[in-house]
Amino acid sequence: MPDSRELISTEKQAEDECVEVSLRPNYLHEYIGQEVVKENLSVFIEAARRRGDALDHILLSGPPGLGKTTLAHVIANELGVGIRVTSGPAIERPGDLVAILTNLEDRDVLFIDEIHRLSHVAEEALYPAMEDFSYDWVAGKGPQARTYRLKLPKFTLIAATTRSGLLTSPLRDRFGISFRLEYYSHEELYQVVKRSAKILDIPLDKGGGMEIARRSRGTPRIANRLLRRVRDFAQVRKDGEISKEVAAEALAMLDIDEMGLDRLDRQVLLTIIENYGGGPVGLSTLAASLSEDPGTLEDVYEPYLLQIGFLERTPRGRSVTKKAIEYMGKPLGARNQGRLFEGP
Ligand SMILES: Nc1ncnc2c1ncn2[C@@H]1O[C@H](COP(=O)(O)OP(=O)(O)OP(=O)(O)O)[C@@H](O)[C@H]1O
Ligand SMILES: [Mg+2]
Repeated sequence: MPDSRELISTEKQAEDECVEVSLRPNYLHEYIGQEVVKENLSVFIEAARRRGDALDHILLSGPPGLGKTTLAHVIANELGVGIRVTSGPAIERPGDLVAILTNLEDRDVLFIDEIHRLSHVAEEALYPAMEDFSYDWVAGKGPQARTYRLKLPKFTLIAATTRSGLLTSPLRDRFGISFRLEYYSHEELYQVVKRSAKILDIPLDKGGGMEIARRSRGTPRIANRLLRRVRDFAQVRKDGEISKEVAAEALAMLDIDEMGLDRLDRQVLLTIIENYGGGPVGLSTLAASLSEDPGTLEDVYEPYLLQIGFLERTPRGRSVTKKAIEYMGKPLGARNQGRLFEGP
């Protein structure tokens, strides 16, 4: 069965991306939740604006769909400057980086998504650009070799990552500001759903909105997607209005469970319950059992399960909680299965 993150076919996904852009808040006052981040940002932005200076470089980290890309655009809008968008894997050679950097205007924002996937050489070229707004290169070879220094416009780098653990410390240290985005509360997600329903002209009552919010895995992107899938259901099967009952029926049909957990979330819990007697089990062992990358499991999947109190991190590994066992409704399995994966 599809899960809430992969709910949709590829063509739906392309359409979703289009709608996603149209639903993006443009300014801080429209950006829901993340109160601490917003409060800090508004001070930094105001200070930079008053000084007529570029804002310090910002690192945004957190699981997918929490609003990192959105926030980068919001910051550029609030500063009233231009934004250039690229991503770690798109910058293959330092030359690619120079081309982007020299095209920036003074105080512009350069947004690099998936910064953890930046190549080593590009990362090293980025250091002097971030620090001194300059780019050094060597022309010629041997005794004739000369180093040239290119002056760059004073820009603000905003970098986003879902895998902050993969960043090298020299890179991390060059960001003056670093924020980790948190999962959204049900009330905040309800605000997201309400705002999107208004923009998309979807009739929705509070009960319907809350039902979608509760099952959105703390994530605005999922809330917006579920809203549109529930709308399809309401239009075809009902009178178009999204009430609590209509939302619950539609979400059940889409196999979105009560907590909005997706297939991998459930698989993580089930594996620990059935194969490891509820845990503790080491991260790498668990990842091997699930055929997942340990880092992705740790940075992308675990945070939500920890947040809702279904998973615990202990010095000896990951354990499920009583609450998770009750929710999954499965008996604990024997502990010794899967030992095959245990390293030395
Ligand atoms: N604070 C917010 N208020 C309202 N809507 C939001 C907020 N954050 C995110 N969204 C909505 O969720 C969608 C996904 O957000 P965004 O693309 O910024 O996430 P992301 O963190 O960049 O994800 P990824 O890690 O996958 O790149 C946006 O299109 C936007 O409509
Ligand atoms: Mg993004």
